[in-house]
Amino acid sequence: MPPKPVNVSSIPQRSPFRYPGGKTWFVPTFRHWLETIVPQPEVLVEPFAGGGIISLTALFENLVSSAVMVELDDDIAAVWKTVVDGHTDWLAKRILEFDLTRESVIREISKTDVDTKEKAFHTILKNRTFHGGILAEGSGLLKYGENGKGIRSRWYPGTLARRFANMKTIANRIIFRQEDGLSVLEEYAKRKNAIFFIDPPYTAGGKKAGNRLYKHCSLDHDHLFSLCESIKGDFLMTYDNANEVKAMARRHGFHMRLIPMNNTHHATMEELVIGKNLSWMDKYPAVHEPKGEYRTRKTKKVLTSGSTRDPNPQKSRKH
Ligand SMILES: C[S@@+](CC[C@H](N)C(=O)[O-])C[C@H]1O[C@@H](n2cnc3c(N)ncnc32)[C@H](O)[C@@H]1O
Repeated sequence: MPPKPVNVSSIPQRSPFRYPGGKTWFVPTFRHWLETIVPQPEVLVEPFAGGGIISLTALFENLVSSAVMVELDDDIAAVWKTVVDGHTDWLAKRILEFDLTRESVIREISKTDVDTKEKAFHTILKNRTFHGGILAEGSGLLKYGENGKGIRSRWYPGTLARRFANMKTIANRIIFRQEDGLSVLEEYAKRKNAIFFIDPPYTAGGKKAGNRLYKHCSLDHDHLFSLCESIKGDFLMTYDNANEVKAMARRHGFHMRLIPMNNTHHATMEELVIGKNLSWMDKYPAVHEPKGEYRTRKTKKVLTSGSTRDPNPQKSRKH
């Protein structure tokens, strides 16, 4: 039986964001990966941090000593900077005291000359009141929201304030960098005690999803794969299950597995997990070469140089 998608309600939700492409559903796999790494890594690098659920989980569950969170988006960056600068209580209070109506949100977010803390508050407001939590250009305020509750349908001030208050206990273990994730990845690649969780915008092969969801979405995916080859510790990448991505993973000699997840419309899809050695993920289907590349004219099986090294071919499925 193929594995079922994770029920995200069973995972502690520690991020204050409802983030498009958020990886709460990946938490059990992330924990499993950490169990396979001996000795325990010192630092987790997340070059595309977004809502940061993976870094937060790693810190709260003491799976690493510190996390390097990298994010280019200045709205998101303002939130992580506010957390690292020790202003979580301020932010929690600001959230609790805000009387949220359509008018008050519009009035608040139209203020532009604000400091980082206020900007962080604006980001949380927008993230909670815009369609799908999307902050990219073209997104807008919720009209009907959940259960006809309109703009307040995703505004849970008590829960949000508690998440920020809790973050106070791990804030000094976060290193936040508003920089290009690829350069920070390169900087840490030689460290044996560093691991990387890499969740880039899904734009490889001209895919549209990443363009619509994020302000920063153009990325040299092939360069990212090359940098991953230089990583001395370990890494995991998550990607959409696209042919261009699989071709890149093969070219760089990485393993691939397919993992089920439920998207925001509750449809079950498969995402691609890519890494150096994914034999610990054997319950998940492996990804093979397209059939044609396996055969000579006499239909004798040959392995092409770009094949993924699957240690357990019996359990695999073709994709
Ligand atoms: C798929 S999302 C990450 C989601 C995250 N794993 C989560 O659970 O919330 C990709 C993120 O990468 C950011 N990003 C895009 N290009 C970047 C770059 N060159 N450096 C750093 N961050 C970047 C986007 O703003 C977006 O937040």
